[in-house]
Amino acid sequence: MASVKVWCILVLSFLLPHSYAHMDFFTSIGHMTDLINTEKDLVTSLKDYIKAEENKLEQIKKWAEKLDQLTDTATKDPEGFLGHPVNAFKLMKRLNTEWGELENLVLKDMSDGFISNMTIQRQYFPNDEDQTGAAKALLRLQDTYNLDTDTLSRGNLPDPEHQRANGNLKYFEYIMSKEKEANKSTTETDSQTDKETKAKKKEPNKDYLPERQKYEMLCRGEGLKMTPRRQKKLFCRYYDGNQNPKYILAPVKQEDEWDKPRIVRFLEIISDEEIETVKELAKPRLSRATVHDPETGKLTTAHYRVSKSAWLSGYESPVVSRINRRIQDLTGLDVSTAEELQVANYGVGGQYEPHFDFARKDEPDAFKELGTGNRIATWLFYMSDVSAGGATVFPEVGASVWPKKGTAVFWYNLFPSGEGDYSTRHAACPVLVGNKWVSNKWIHERGQEFRRPCTLSELE
Ligand code: OGA
Ligand code: FE2
Repeated sequence: MASVKVWCILVLSFLLPHSYAHMDFFTSIGHMTDLINTEKDLVTSLKDYIKAEENKLEQIKKWAEKLDQLTDTATKDPEGFLGHPVNAFKLMKRLNTEWGELENLVLKDMSDGFISNMTIQRQYFPNDEDQTGAAKALLRLQDTYNLDTDTLSRGNLPDPEHQRANGNLKYFEYIMSKEKEANKSTTETDSQTDKETKAKKKEPNKDYLPERQKYEMLCRGEGLKMTPRRQKKLFCRYYDGNQNPKYILAPVKQEDEWDKPRIVRFLEIISDEEIETVKELAKPRLSRATVHDPETGKLTTAHYRVSKSAWLSGYESPVVSRINRRIQDLTGLDVSTAEELQVANYGVGGQYEPHFDFARKDEPDAFKELGTGNRIATWLFYMSDVSAGGATVFPEVGASVWPKKGTAVFWYNLFPSGEGDYSTRHAACPVLVGNKWVSNKWIHERGQEFRRPCTLSELE
């Protein structure tokens, strides 16, 4: 039995760390809560181990004390001591068996249980890549939200409820200064050693983004404000889905978030129960979100999109199907050609840098296989509030839309002509404190030929 166990552990410890490729823990809070529970279990197991070692030492101590007294008496008058036949017998017994037993006790390995628990749990632990990812996410947060290291390490983040992070974060300061140094030194050696090669072949900076400054300002809520004249044209209203019978009796609240491109927000449009169901359905399937590689048109992971996502089909749950139907009724667009409902979860540092939801002319047609045309419109549900950060921003026009649980925003990505609207370029700002859940529906061109209602596309 024991040898089978040891064998299993050996096999596990060799195979598992490789077969469980890294899981991008930092991108999603869901998986990080599992880690906290795992760590708690390990602490329990460690405490059991400590108890076992203490027990063992206690037994050894008692033996030593007993023998200490005995040998004291015996050495004082050895002959007198051995004159007693029981003492002579006991000496034989001690030397022949009891010291042997003590040797076994001293050699006994109490760490078995703890070590095997550790080996098994380890397969789910973050690796070097996860740790670097986490450090980079912190740097990104510092940059985007203009935090000094002090603010971050003291836990003086915008939400007073989250100041528990205090103190511990000294460690992060260290990691971050190391990370910054590493970045600096690689660029320095580059410039020293291969100046010429670099002059010829300019290395593209992976983090370069033309609108970064604007993007980060909007994320901090420092965007240019709309002129009062323009703002006056933004309204809120009760909306009946363009006289959809379902909504004539119970119209929904709709607010204009922006005029050009027109972005509208629906309020109280998804209930807490529906949100819970959608999250529960998505949780077991969340995996690192992918993007279309503009060169190959294939799906890959990218540093500029850090979140976990899953797709839900209307067939698998009446709740999902009801939600799809609601989007169709309120936009007047056919959702049968839309993509499935995408659920995304952004952990701390999670973000999606500025992008278009539609495919550009110069791209290999990413949506060709679907046969449903380009992404005509985007519907985005906010399924959580976010304590700090996590806005959806439109750097071309200066709009910031803040997450609010139960609401949804909608905009057209294409003009009625089918041309892409470049002013819809948008981003999901890094989450600074909290956990952001959204779900979105990308509606496609096919099916909308005779449907696109003008009321939702342009402000009159
Ligand atoms: C997207 C997107 C914005 C957000 O998933 O395409 O732009 O705020 N999301 O999550
Ligand atoms: Fe998007």
